[in-house]
Formats: sequence, C-alpha cells, structure tokens
Amino acid sequence: MPQYPHGPLRSFGRIKARPIKARRASLLTTLLPELALEIGQPVAPLSLKPDAAEVWLEIGFGGGEHLAAQATGRPDALLLGAEPFLNGVASALRHIEAASLTNVRLHAGDARDLLAALPTACLDRIFILFPDPWPKQRHHKRRLIQPETIAELARVLRPGGRLRFATDWADYADWTLERLMRTTALVWTAQRADDWRLAPADHVPTRYEAKKLGDIAPIYLEFERSALEA
Ligand SMILES: C[S@@+](CC[C@H](N)C(=O)[O-])C[C@H]1O[C@@H](n2cnc3c(N)ncnc32)[C@H](O)[C@@H]1O
Repeated sequence: MPQYPHGPLRSFGRIKARPIKARRASLLTTLLPELALEIGQPVAPLSLKPDAAEVWLEIGFGGGEHLAAQATGRPDALLLGAEPFLNGVASALRHIEAASLTNVRLHAGDARDLLAALPTACLDRIFILFPDPWPKQRHHKRRLIQPETIAELARVLRPGGRLRFATDWADYADWTLERLMRTTALVWTAQRADDWRLAPADHVPTRYEAKKLGDIAPIYLEFERSALEA
C-alpha cells in the first residue's frame, strides 16, 4: 500500500448508522461472503469473471444504486465496488439481489486497500461520485483525492481507460481538477463547458446527488488514462 503522508487517515465518516433492516442484515451474512473480494492477496479481476469484456470500479458507492444500475446496463462487464459504510453495503446487496446481478464484486472497506491489491492497468473505468467533501480546511487532508490515491488510480487504469469524478462542492471540484491535471497520466477530456456541466449520457443519478447538499450544481469530470507514465 502506498505511504500516505498523513498516515492511514479516514476519508469516510461513519461506517454504521441506523439499525440495518432484517433482510439487508441477513444479506450481509449470506450474499456478501459470496461477492466479497479477498484483498489480503493480489486481486486478478479476470479470474473472477473470465469472460468480462471490461472491468469497472466504483469507489464509495454509497447505497449502491449507481453500481447496480451500471451492472444491469452492462452485463458483459465486471463491476467492482468499494464502500466502508455498512448500511450502504447492505443496501447495495439488496439491489444486487433484486436485479439478480452476477457481475458485481464488493469490498466492504477502504477502496485504497482494494486499489493496492489490484494489478497495474487492469481497469477500464473508475467512478468516484460525490465523495465526502470534507469542506473544512483542517479536514482537507481527509479528502480521497490525494497525490497517492491519484497515482494509484492512474496505475490501475489501462491506457484509454476512464475516470469519472463528480461533486457538487466548488472547492472540491477545484481541488480535484488542480491535482489531477498535475499528472500527464490522466487527461481531462472536456472540450466545452457542457462536458462538465451536464451529466454524461450514461450517468445514473446517485442518492447523495439528489440531496443537493453542495454549494454548486453537480459537475462531472472525465479523465482518460494516457499511454504516458504517471
Ligand atoms: C458522500 S457519500 C456519496 C455516496 C454515493 N457515491 C452517492 O453519490 O450517493 C461518499 C461515500 O464515499 C465513501 N468513502 C469515503 N472514503 C472512502 C474510501 N476510502 N473508500 C471507499 N469508500 C469511501 C463513504 O463511506 C460514503 O459512503
């Protein structure tokens, strides 16, 4: 795992909130073990679904609505998801069960641990949608977007692979753009304002997005992995 200068700081808030409904709680003990990624060892995504046309990762999938919708739309792709918030994981399991999805695997924990277990250039797409904004200056170091995480995102994306980042916090948008544009490994694909102002055609609105808690309308930043070194 890369060495983070601030130590293993939590980039997420709570990992459990209100009591989990009985059906969801039972899925945590029945379905989750079937779908859980074993990150104590290197994870080879194609060994999980050898016929997968593409491998996608969603970091911080929250309640799993987006993850499940994308997995439904692309049954030929393998969708990996990482989320430490147990209520969110339970909710995602409910969606996975309801849609009888067989192309999703989960890590119920910190995505940075999963990234470290993934081989280089193994992913076609990564989604980071409405990550915790940590708006106070003294909490900025908790933001998921840090140089070490960016290096890992660039490492696991294949050349031509894409990273989508969305936020409705102006300062986090600036923060992310500034840091991602420092690496030649990731190229911002926007040609015109509508490319970041309008939701991409294949975007599925998320639960957090619907709450409109930020200080701007959502922006969507899409980056392509170049063939250059990080
Ligand atoms: C503000 S919520 C947004 C959830 C969802 N993407 C949405 O838009 O509804 C951010 C989520 O990211 C998760 N998160 C934060 N740090 C994370 C990390 N290091 N790895 C995986 N998930 C993380 C949090 O637990 C939380 O559920």
